[in-house]
This record gives sequence, structure tokens and C-alpha cells, in this order.
Amino acid sequence: MSDTKVWYITGASKGIGLSLVKQLLAKGHRVAATSRSITAFEAFNGNDDRWLPLEVDLKSEQSVAASIQKTIEKFGRLDVVVNNAGYGLGGALEELTAAEINENFQVNLFAVMRVIQQALPYMRKQRSGHIINISSIAGFAPGTGWTAYCAAKFAVSGLSEALANDLKPLGIHVTNVMPGAFRTSFAKADSIAYSKRTIEDYTHLREYHARMNGMDGTQTGDPDKMADIFLELVTSPTPAVNLFLGSDAFNRAQIKIAQLQAEMDTWKNVSLSTDFIA
Ligand SMILES: NC(=O)c1ccc[n+]([C@@H]2O[C@H](COP(=O)([O-])OP(=O)(O)OC[C@H]3O[C@@H](n4cnc5c(N)ncnc54)[C@H](OP(=O)(O)O)[C@@H]3O)[C@@H](O)[C@H]2O)c1
Repeated sequence: MSDTKVWYITGASKGIGLSLVKQLLAKGHRVAATSRSITAFEAFNGNDDRWLPLEVDLKSEQSVAASIQKTIEKFGRLDVVVNNAGYGLGGALEELTAAEINENFQVNLFAVMRVIQQALPYMRKQRSGHIINISSIAGFAPGTGWTAYCAAKFAVSGLSEALANDLKPLGIHVTNVMPGAFRTSFAKADSIAYSKRTIEDYTHLREYHARMNGMDGTQTGDPDKMADIFLELVTSPTPAVNLFLGSDAFNRAQIKIAQLQAEMDTWKNVSLSTDFIA
């Protein structure tokens, strides 16, 4: 890969995706970026030779395939895919409808799989490439009140780790990024979603949802610091497979690891008791 790379970034009209687009274009990279609405990208006109705005329905295999094809047609290769599009979904499992859960999984998980499936034939041919999946600290150490979102993000984390194993011999890296709270539109009403149905027994979850809403604009994480970190990742011969971003994510992960280790120690004899006796 040359010094500047070809990037494909999903969900780039705002937040982390938008920040990545701005910074990567400013640093001379070639960027293809997706949004549900192409009008979101009008501000970038003028970067035409290094810029490809794409209106994509991430829930459609055809739409995703066409966007990857256009990226290859314009730039001739594909070096980095950032699966960034996603949104939070609050609510107890019983409160959420199948449609609400399905929609969240379509965007947060199945779109990630769709994009990777369409990108890999080109990356395999190149014998190079880097897939960066934006999971969440919720995909490692779940909070309270976000069951479906956590499940989707855990799946992204699992997918990423498993893929990293499969693709390593082909020269393709995978990094699972698990951010803590970053100052984007994530907690704003036009991004985050909550179950329409509420059940009184789960009133305690509303406190956690209110905490998330109240965080808007004061989150500790700076999305503008991500581009340089991603550039370091994609030029490293040994990039991280799992990367926590933000002091909150790092601390929460450490607590989870300590709890898991303590539970494993407590239940060790049970864990080891199921083998056939030789
Ligand atoms: N900010 C945080 O605190 C935080 C923490 C952990 C993980 N994350 C993850 O980071 C990623 C980026 O989020 P962000 O913080 O930048 O939030 P954001 O500012 O709300 O941006 C989210 C992006 O995802 C896309 N998106 C949202 N809902 C979508 C839907 N229903 N269908 C298709 N695309 C949709 C949007 O794309 P378009 O509108 O352009 O189509 C948007 O640009 C997400 O995967 C999120 O789960 C964020």
C-alpha cells in the first residue's frame, strides 16, 4: 500500500464518520463515504479526484455491492473499510418489538457483514487491506438498559475477532474498535432510539437512558482524535485486534476483565469437572 490510502467509510454524515472523512481528505487520502442521504455531503464538493460520496442503503446487499464497485471503479483499489454506521437502542428486551430489534441488528451488525462480504474479494485479490469495525465498550462490558444494542455490538466484536484469525494469512487485518462515550450525535434524539413500548417493572432502566441523554455534548471522547489513531493502526505491521478508545472504555474493560477472572477462579472446579475421566 502507498502512503495515502483508499478508505470506504459507512455512516459518514455526522459524528465519528464525518470527522474521519474531513481529516482523511485533509491528509491527502482518497475517501469513499456512505450516507442514507447524499445531500449530507454537499460541503465536500471540490475534493472530486479524491472524494466519492455514496448514497447507500446499508440494509440492501445490492446497494452495498454497487457502492463498493463504484469505489473500485473510481480509485482502483480498496485499502481500508471502516464499518462505522450504527445507533443505540434502549429498552428492556421485553419492551422491544421484533421490528425494533431487527432494525438495530440490520444496521449495527448485518450491514457490517454485508460490507465486508462485498469488500473482501478485492482485498483478497490485493492480498492487503484493513477492516476497522466500530463496535462499542457495550460490545465488551454491557451497561444497563441496552440489551439489544449490546447484543449487536457483542456480535460485531465476535465477528471481528474471528475474521481477524481467518484473514491474517491473506494479509488482511481486522481491528475491533470499542469506544467509550464520544462527543458525537450518538445521544441526540435524531440518532438514538428507545423502545416505543414500556413496561412499568422496568422503570429503573429509564434512569440509565436519562443518563445517556444527559451526556450529550459533554462526553469525554474527542472524535477528531480517531483519524490519527486509525492511520497508526493501518500502517502498523502488528495492529491491535481489539482496541478500547477513551479512558471510560479502558477502565470499564479493566473492571470487566477483573470480574470475569474472579468468577472464573470461583467456578474453576466446576469448569474443569465436565471432562471424561481418562
Ligand atoms: N459516540 C459514542 O459515544 C459511541 C460509543 C460507542 C460506539 N459508538 C459507535 O460509533 C459509531 C458511530 O456513531 P457516532 O457516535 O458517530 O454517532 P452519530 O453521530 O449518531 O453518527 C452515526 C452514523 O451512523 C449512521 N446511522 C445511524 N442510524 C442509522 C440507520 N438507522 N441506518 C443507517 N445508518 C445509520 C448515520 O449515517 P447517515 O445518517 O450518514 O446515513 C450516522 O452518520 C456507531 O456504530 C456507534 O454505535 C459510538
